[in-house]
Amino acid sequence: MKSARIAGLGKCLPPNVLTNADLEKKVDTSDEWIITRTGIRERRIVKAGESASDLAREASLQALKRAGIKAKDLDLIIVATITPDTQFPATACHLQNAIKATNAICFDISAACAGFVYALNTAWQFIKGGLYEKILIVGSEVLSSITDWEDRSTCVLFGDGAGAAVLLPTTSDKGVLSSYMGSDGSQTDILIVPGGGSRCPASIDTLKKKLHYIKMRGNELFRIAVRVMAEAAEKAITNVGLQTSDIDILVPHQANKRIIDAVAQRLKIPREKVYMNVDRYGNMSSASSAVALCEAWEKGEIKDGDLVVLDAFGAGLVWGSCVIRWV
Ligand code: UT7
Repeated sequence: MKSARIAGLGKCLPPNVLTNADLEKKVDTSDEWIITRTGIRERRIVKAGESASDLAREASLQALKRAGIKAKDLDLIIVATITPDTQFPATACHLQNAIKATNAICFDISAACAGFVYALNTAWQFIKGGLYEKILIVGSEVLSSITDWEDRSTCVLFGDGAGAAVLLPTTSDKGVLSSYMGSDGSQTDILIVPGGGSRCPASIDTLKKKLHYIKMRGNELFRIAVRVMAEAAEKAITNVGLQTSDIDILVPHQANKRIIDAVAQRLKIPREKVYMNVDRYGNMSSASSAVALCEAWEKGEIKDGDLVVLDAFGAGLVWGSCVIRWV
């Protein structure tokens, strides 16, 4: 049975660091509040004019190099983003041009913070079905472009970055073993950018009302995130006859240290088996789990044969988990 393995990982974090102390100067907040409530100490912010495809390009070139694949050999590019370069065409097309992946077909996935897991699952299906073989998936976000820097309840949370993975077929018993995804469209307004789409086109009025920025009811989201992330991981793991005690490393979406701790506790996974970098990058939406996976691998925390579980949740609501036997 054909499956997909991750052959190369890459990441891109803009060098510009925005600390909690910097934010104390912008809004009525404190380093102490941000660390206690979120675990975030700093985040990265792009320089003016830098877009999602610029970050995606750096992450992708690194992933391709590590996979030993040329951009021209790719036959599919999927970019997960909620901060596309342009409303259309797809950021995946901008990326294709930037890396000269001339033989790939390209599309974007809009699944917010679960975007990288959705992209991975989609790529896995294409590989299993035999339609495409060499696939680049990317989570890339410039969340600073949709952040209201006067809203203390959101501006302390987000950061910019990108992570990429090259997927190739495998016939071994390793690679992607299982996935579980969920969606609940009855709660679209709990985390949303309300302006700029067809429902509420951009106008002077939408600008005045700041409708192009992230609006979030964080407290409600918190409780849902813990429940559905724990459920998703458990289902993805038990669907293939494994148990949470078999996991070598959990790589969760990095929205909030307290959410990650609570999910790990529900799954009875010890802290040392959970990868966390939210302190350094904040919440990068689709890029969070992609960057975390890449970093964990770079640090040697993922070894051949390890059972790796990705687990994410975001606006939609959408959530999902993937189980990978590392190869
Ligand atoms: O990426 C996937 C989707 N996102 C999430 O899953 C995020 C989930 N939510 C969270 O991470 C947390 O709910 C937050 C970090 C967003 C907020 O933490 P909280 O413990 O839920 O705080 P809260 O919203 O209940 O606010 C508590 C207090 C409020 O003051 P009052 O009403 O108690 O007087 C807020 O106004 O903290 C206040 N507050 C702040 N104070 C200082 C909110 N933001 C700040 C701030 N600095 N930056």
